[in-house]
Amino acid sequence: MEDFVISKRVLLVGATGYIGRHVANILVEQGYKPICPLRSKDPKFAQQIKLSPEQIPIWDLKNKSSVNSIFAQYPDLCAVISCIASRTGGIRDSWFVDFELNMNILTTAKAYNINNFVLLSAICVQKPMLNFQWAKLTFEKKLQTSGLDYTIVRPTAFFKSLAGQITRVQNGKKFILFDDGNRTRTKPISERDLAIFLVQCINNKSRTNKILSIGGPGPARTQKELGDIIFKLLNKSPKYFHMPSNVFKILATLITPLGLISTKMRDKAEFLRIAYYYATESMLFWNKRIKQYSSEETIEVGKDTIEVFYKSIIERDHQLVKDKEQKLFD
Ligand SMILES: NC(=O)c1ccc[n+]([C@@H]2O[C@H](COP(=O)([O-])OP(=O)(O)OC[C@H]3O[C@@H](n4cnc5c(N)ncnc54)[C@H](OP(=O)(O)O)[C@@H]3O)[C@@H](O)[C@H]2O)c1
Repeated sequence: MEDFVISKRVLLVGATGYIGRHVANILVEQGYKPICPLRSKDPKFAQQIKLSPEQIPIWDLKNKSSVNSIFAQYPDLCAVISCIASRTGGIRDSWFVDFELNMNILTTAKAYNINNFVLLSAICVQKPMLNFQWAKLTFEKKLQTSGLDYTIVRPTAFFKSLAGQITRVQNGKKFILFDDGNRTRTKPISERDLAIFLVQCINNKSRTNKILSIGGPGPARTQKELGDIIFKLLNKSPKYFHMPSNVFKILATLITPLGLISTKMRDKAEFLRIAYYYATESMLFWNKRIKQYSSEETIEVGKDTIEVFYKSIIERDHQLVKDKEQKLFD
């Protein structure tokens, strides 16, 4: 009987992104051979992930023949993982990157019979109101009807997205809460746990042709609870500034007419709508039947907790301050 060797080559698209880098690392850790085409040379990336030049070819993702030539170069790919996303969140860029560029990958993967496509999406596409969500959702639909085996992973908020106020609080400022700070909840997920989950989706029968809404180990936290954790870790008494979420909505409404004459203003209005969405919608599984977010139905993944993540940032900052002070006296 002919020997059948399963290829360990995986095409990773968006490898230079925040999650993409973690996925590239986990692929290497788990014995896969990631092929990470980039849009321009990035020597730091190659060094950080320890990839050979052969694993980081340059391509032009908007050019079909360029995409084609990469697939032709690696005919033994066992899967594609796509982590690309618009870096700006602007309207045109979201449709271009999250939809069109992903379509270029999908059509080429199909042409080359790469029958396993893992897509990093976002949990917020469950209740789409924003252009980037519609762009992602439209691509999800195309993937689902492509005939290829797929897994769509919709994660909750990343740890890094919930760490933006640590420095403010360290500097004695108030933690900003939207409304009373209890309106939204999320089960944050660490970048590493998400990357491990994505890699485990490769040719995984139990996850094939599924959409998985995943979060970290929980429990689901409100914005106020996340603030409380930061104050506790910093040994400070909590101080909050309550910002009405409607401010974003009102500003977006005022700016919207200007969008008719300026793309820049159209994007500005969209960014305000994005801010309003995150201030008012939970990042948890949306149960359509009861029209409620459900913490219980948000699959828990990994072990990393937001407390430990916050602690590591605070300790790293303490160390940086100590190092600076040390230098002054050296
Ligand atoms: N932040 C959160 O809390 C959160 C939560 C759930 C889901 N998500 C979703 O997770 C996904 C990944 O997020 P991330 O933070 O890892 O994204 P990111 O750091 O912004 O990375 C985006 C990746 O896409 C590539 N890319 C963007 N525009 C491109 C273009 N025109 N041509 C070629 N490549 C392009 C970038 O390449 P370059 O390096 O060359 O620019 C980069 O590799 C997004 O879909 C996001 O919506 C985020």
